[in-house]
Amino acid sequence: MEQIKLDISRVYDFISEDEIHKLARETAEAQRSLYKGDGAGNDFLGWLNLPSTITDQLISEIEGAVSDLKEISDLVVVIGIGGSYLGARAVNDALAHNFAGLRKDRRDPLMLFAGHHIGEDYMHELLQLLDHRSYSIVVISKSGTTTEPALAFRILKEHLEQKLGKAEASGRIIAVTDSSKGALRQLADEKGYRSFVIPDDIGGRFSVLTPVGLVPLAFAGVDIRQLVKGAQASGQRCTPGVPFEENPSALYAATRNALYRSGKKIEILVNYNNKLHYVSEWWKQLFGESEGKKGRGIYPASVDNSTDLHSMGQYIQEGERILFETVISVEQSNHKMQIPGESDDLDQLNYLAGKHIDHVNKMAELGTILAHLDGGVPNIRISVPRLSEYHLGELLYFFENACGISGYMLGINPFDQPGVEAYKKNMFALLEKPGFEKETANIKSRL
Ligand code: PA5
Repeated sequence: MEQIKLDISRVYDFISEDEIHKLARETAEAQRSLYKGDGAGNDFLGWLNLPSTITDQLISEIEGAVSDLKEISDLVVVIGIGGSYLGARAVNDALAHNFAGLRKDRRDPLMLFAGHHIGEDYMHELLQLLDHRSYSIVVISKSGTTTEPALAFRILKEHLEQKLGKAEASGRIIAVTDSSKGALRQLADEKGYRSFVIPDDIGGRFSVLTPVGLVPLAFAGVDIRQLVKGAQASGQRCTPGVPFEENPSALYAATRNALYRSGKKIEILVNYNNKLHYVSEWWKQLFGESEGKKGRGIYPASVDNSTDLHSMGQYIQEGERILFETVISVEQSNHKMQIPGESDDLDQLNYLAGKHIDHVNKMAELGTILAHLDGGVPNIRISVPRLSEYHLGELLYFFENACGISGYMLGINPFDQPGVEAYKKNMFALLEKPGFEKETANIKSRL
């Protein structure tokens, strides 16, 4: 079976192979702690062995829960934010037809999103669209109390109830939340929604292979069995039993930390396939929320090339030399298209006639990597055989595993996110939420 591959050879001009190998012991120690479960945040390690423990029964339950709704829904609105949103969007966008929303022959419901920001115009325009469409809702929140999705769900639930009546609307809603706590759990139980549980020991950004990702993806027609199979294969390659040189997550964690220690503070995840935009968004949350603590952490950024070569390319080539790149390269496009020849050749592209578009893309990728190396930007490359459920499962789990190791190498707890509470406290104070009277008084004195 083809598999994703990691190539770190293009960092050797900046840090030697020896320097990376010197980190092998430290990497192994971080890995050992992760698998032994004696490190910081060890009550949130449910994702680590998750792929091999996902049961056929859970997958069948998910497939069963969405199958009748798929028949009657043109759209599925997925409500969630952060880790309760990005995984499903990443996989869906990587696999969906670029113009799925405009296709008359589309078989599966189109996935739309809500509750991932607080845009009033967005909600208004979404309701305008939903007035005329048959839709269902998958609402996802582990805490069940996050403001953005709770707000969106309140509005969409009311819309659906007005459209179909309360009983039918309840049948069109699937809730993914905690097994017992939170407002969403209470609502789901009272209203009789179909519901799935987010395990207690898995945080949002590590939850794509739980019902958080699997339910919406199954709804949109993604083969979640293959996604899980890919993650299982990746899990086997990333275990501590696999030697350092052959272990992709250990090598990636060691290399990025070696680069960080040499002054490369920003990692740019680069793709040459527009369908990977949200994989980068998911990756940014995974690494940003996991590592950015105690004044430490590699800042995760991303570009979509070749588009962004015409915007960010200048900075990457010649700006401050604190960057390194990790390129996700998709080896095979799913469709082939040759460049036609023209008799007059006014656009002077005949030298490419007969070549595939993807060949040009690959040369843009290689040319950019070499230029950036010349400009002082080390390069890590992850090649993905093609965009499929299986390889995405491999890729996502590989990143999760590497993130756990890398977080421990940085000396932080990769599984909490205390910093995200700061804005919430201020927002609640400004909104004069009951219970925040003291904060409201404090914040008003600053205005
Ligand atoms: O990774 C995380 O923990 C966060 O991004 C959460 O997933 C996000 O804040 C949403 O939280 P919840 O699922 O509780 O609504």
